Amino acid sequence: MGFIVLKGITKSFNDGSGSRKVLDSLDLSLDKGDFVAVTGVSGAGKTTLLNILGSLLTPDQGSYIIDGIDVLAPGTDLLRLRNRRIGFVFQDHRLLPQFTVMQNILLPALADSDSVESAVTEWARQLVRIMGIEDLTAQLPDTLSGGEKSRVAICRALIMKPDLLLADEPTGQLDAGHAREVAELLARVNRELGTTIVLVTHSDTLAHSASRIYQLKEGKLS
Ligand SMILES: Nc1ncnc2c1ncn2[C@@H]1O[C@H](COP(=O)(O)OP(=O)(O)O)[C@@H](O)[C@H]1O
Ligand SMILES: [Mg+2]
Repeated sequence: MGFIVLKGITKSFNDGSGSRKVLDSLDLSLDKGDFVAVTGVSGAGKTTLLNILGSLLTPDQGSYIIDGIDVLAPGTDLLRLRNRRIGFVFQDHRLLPQFTVMQNILLPALADSDSVESAVTEWARQLVRIMGIEDLTAQLPDTLSGGEKSRVAICRALIMKPDLLLADEPTGQLDAGHAREVAELLARVNRELGTTIVLVTHSDTLAHSASRIYQLKEGKLS
């Protein structure tokens, strides 16, 4: 059985004139260490799919298993699951403006315990080096460029060494050169940490850094 198994996932939204099925009996199965890209036109449901994978949104129908854990079962501790096993890079970064770059990166670790262990601080230092933002750690997010914010968001998503990294168009606001850099960093994270990655992107170039490419169309992956 796969590490991640989505089966028969259906999700509809009410758009005012009625209910629209965004995901229609969608299936997806990923093994540990897979790196897949999801492409699709705007409005195809890519963010909806990532939100369901991130346990931020509940589907109307279907089942979702991560590593044997039934994500949709009533008793499942979603806060713990999200914080320890899933890293999320949001389309709009969602960095907290009042905290420095380093504080933003360490937040998931702080949410998990009262103090941050030195091993975590060391991992954060390593991450900022890998991402090339070691000189920016004392700055506030508002002083950063879009590309730098993306890299901070990726560091934050990786601080807990999640099994699953979900990235929603992380390079959407970047120029081609920086976008390629972020794609290379994700590929490196996948290779060196064995992190399972689902990358949503418009860009064919970026999608090709993944080992499998899916297209989301009419509520299904193909
Ligand atoms: N919370 C919501 N309420 C109503 N409609 C929504 C909601 N979230 C998404 N949608 C609709 O679902 C469709 C898919 O959205 P989304 O998953 O954001 O697509 P994508 O990320 O591929 O651009 C769009 O038509 C969008 O308007
Ligand atoms: Mg989207």
